[in-house]
Amino acid sequence: MSNNILVFYGSYRSDRMGIRLATYLVEGFRKRGDAPELIDAKAVGLPMLDRMYKEYPKGEAPPAMEELARKIRAADAFLFVTGEYNWGAQPGLKNLTDHFLEEWYWRPAAIASYSSGRISGARSSFVWHGTLSEMGMVVISSTLTVGPIAETLGPDGSPIGNGGKALERAFPRFADDLAWWTEAAKAQRARKEPPY
Ligand SMILES: Cc1cc2nc3c(=O)[nH]c(=O)nc-3n(C[C@H](O)[C@H](O)[C@H](O)COP(=O)(O)O)c2cc1C
Repeated sequence: MSNNILVFYGSYRSDRMGIRLATYLVEGFRKRGDAPELIDAKAVGLPMLDRMYKEYPKGEAPPAMEELARKIRAADAFLFVTGEYNWGAQPGLKNLTDHFLEEWYWRPAAIASYSSGRISGARSSFVWHGTLSEMGMVVISSTLTVGPIAETLGPDGSPIGNGGKALERAFPRFADDLAWWTEAAKAQRARKEPPY
């Protein structure tokens, strides 16, 4: 079954590295027959949070926000590619996600973290788990942790070296876990209207 998966990435840095992991994951899910789409917070370019999407009168949200709300509502699953700034979340990705709330409900989310060192963004993964749960997503237990990212993925997102081999070994189980929960949530939404 092909799933519509939004892949979120949120670094605004000129020399950003996490785009390699986002590219790898989009490609990985596409090869499995899914329909992934990269949502690059920098490209979407939402302003710093003023009004949440739901706080705009109907039809008056900025077009980029309206379009993203539509995509989030239509998605079967979400994948968050999270880097770590000072043990915390990257502000660009956090700012994007905070614009929405009900739009996220009743779907699973997976987290793939990375960093320049061997910690692989594990602390950002921990931080995002609670945030995504609070926003109504079911966060799957499988995670990917990638680091050092420069020694794992090349500029085009191709796996390199031993780190790349380890990522290739880890990806199928991670993707299977997300697929299982995606199909479970899809079937339940079809069977029973979400309560709110
Ligand atoms: C402001 C800032 C804070 C950082 N803090 C951490 C950190 O706490 N832990 C870590 O492993 N790497 C940290 N790093 C290194 C990042 O892992 C590395 O720069 C990574 O490439 C950032 O993701 P990006 O290139 O997609 O922006 C930090 C980098 C920046 C720019």
